[in-house]
Amino acid sequence: MCGIVAYLGDKQAYPILIKGLKRLEYRGYDSSGVALINGDLNLYKRKGKVAELEKFAKGKNVEGTVGIAHTRWATHGEPNDVNAHPHTSQDKNLAIIHNGIIENYNVLKEELINRGHVFESETDTEVLIHLVEDVQQNENVDLVEAVRIALNQVVGAYAMVIISKKDDGKLIAAKKGSPMVIGVGDNEFLIASDATPIVEYTRKVVYLEDEEMAVMERGKELQLKSISNIKHTPYFQELTMNLDVLEKGGYDHFMLKEIFEQPTSIKETMRGRLRIDDGVVWLGGIREYTAKLKNAKRILMIACGTSWHAGLVGEYLFEDLTRIPVEVEYASEFRYRNPIITEDDVVIAISQSGETADTLAAIKMAKEKGATILGICNVVGSSIPRHTDAGSYTHAGPEIGVASTKAFTSQVTILTMMALMIAKERGTISRSRYHQLVYELETIPEKVEEVLKTNDIVKKISALYKDSRNFLYLGRGYNFPVALEGALKLKEISYIHAEGYPAAEMKHGPIALIDEEMPVVVIAPKRGHYDKLVSNIQEVKARKGKVIAVVTKGDVDVAKIADHVIEIPDVDELLVPLIATVPLQLLSYYIAVMRGCNVDQPRNLAKSVTVE
Ligand code: F6R
Repeated sequence: MCGIVAYLGDKQAYPILIKGLKRLEYRGYDSSGVALINGDLNLYKRKGKVAELEKFAKGKNVEGTVGIAHTRWATHGEPNDVNAHPHTSQDKNLAIIHNGIIENYNVLKEELINRGHVFESETDTEVLIHLVEDVQQNENVDLVEAVRIALNQVVGAYAMVIISKKDDGKLIAAKKGSPMVIGVGDNEFLIASDATPIVEYTRKVVYLEDEEMAVMERGKELQLKSISNIKHTPYFQELTMNLDVLEKGGYDHFMLKEIFEQPTSIKETMRGRLRIDDGVVWLGGIREYTAKLKNAKRILMIACGTSWHAGLVGEYLFEDLTRIPVEVEYASEFRYRNPIITEDDVVIAISQSGETADTLAAIKMAKEKGATILGICNVVGSSIPRHTDAGSYTHAGPEIGVASTKAFTSQVTILTMMALMIAKERGTISRSRYHQLVYELETIPEKVEEVLKTNDIVKKISALYKDSRNFLYLGRGYNFPVALEGALKLKEISYIHAEGYPAAEMKHGPIALIDEEMPVVVIAPKRGHYDKLVSNIQEVKARKGKVIAVVTKGDVDVAKIADHVIEIPDVDELLVPLIATVPLQLLSYYIAVMRGCNVDQPRNLAKSVTVE
């Protein structure tokens, strides 16, 4: 949450910073701001999206080759011009951008007020920059040392960059808990919350570690040290990201583009891992932990939101194929409920961003108790993979739309491959079943391609139900998590209340809601519990509910009773979530667009939830 960008080099900073902020808007978009040094410190901040900031800064002095910029998702203080970052020191010499939360800001603020500091905003960030200024003045040290001393007094998370009017050739950055990437180009440095604002200027990057500081000076090498003052040698990495993935590529929204990218993203997830010639699944990233997984007494899937839904599909897959007991946990509950964790447990943390604060905290706790931690993440170099013992990246490519789509299908793809690999090791799957699933998994990208052809039908259905006030989603077995995911997608981008339920649970309560106003989406493929689902659909129809059914191509029974059908190809029951989720993503998308909602940046949400 919150995106930060900074630049120091030979080029004009402002256009680079604004472009960078737009790339990071997925992280928060309630206000934004920029500070540039060009003799003076010019600071522009605005409530609203980055476009509002651009309008505000038009015609003003935006000159300068050093600057910092921020897009905010409010934590301390409402979103307004004053609380927007950057914030400045009392003497207006220093400016800071910050992502994270300073937990002891109240205590620090009180001490600073007692020493004469006056604050303009309600933010914890302003406290941090006043603290740096206070340390610099009272301890008579240079700015870098003042930042280091101040950070040792701070409890909480930060990714922050400071600039100084008196020293316009320098950027000082530090991180703990929140992500930060530094790009090193020819005579220039870029800093950002992720690599997307950096990649078009340089591919040479360093991912800052927790409690690490970086000093970037014109004409000098990047300098790193810990906040306990130990010099570090930078570990440079090469970005492999393709620039196209950062553009909408002709689609109206990133979300639609990402839905349509799924045949490719799933292929990328399987690339080199599903070796179809020898009919083998091989996840190199967890190779050394195969025995640990094979002998695990229990597997815990830990995640939040959509990634939690992927974990739920994982539970069905792992228990079915490997016969290892699985528990799926909301990270936020798990970390606070004193769970029983043993050294024989294997935790699988699932996260698109790799930054979700609750997931990160939960895995740190499980690690302390001796469990083996594996990760399934999309963002390379993010925090969660760096805290796991091993893992597999999903390689779905950057997901920019706030609502998760392609990340989900890639997570489920990895979980399917992992379950197959472990089932084979444990001997809990027959040779023929293993090969059948491996071969069928390989055809999933083309099956998703086929599902995407339902786009126009789904669009027509969306037009009929766009004004509904509630939706119910029902599924059984492997499609229960699909129902949950369909409902989550609809509520987060269209603001329509939606609930997902196991179809059989309907009669234990939700059936009371059904009348002619209630659309009910039923995932009812031929495989699985088809007959039982047909009965559930009858129950909805008997109460005049409107049924939108996702069925296997050629289905006649459901087609006779449902109001609308969306056909998907016939695949093995275990693989249905990979394709049945896709029309539900499209349904949410079109309903949201028809309701005039901002699908890529829905209200109150941020892509990367780095606060608990
Ligand atoms: C839903 C969505 C969220 C995320 C959740 C976890 O569309 O995007 O529910 O799935 O915040 O995020 P990650 O996967 O980044 O840990």
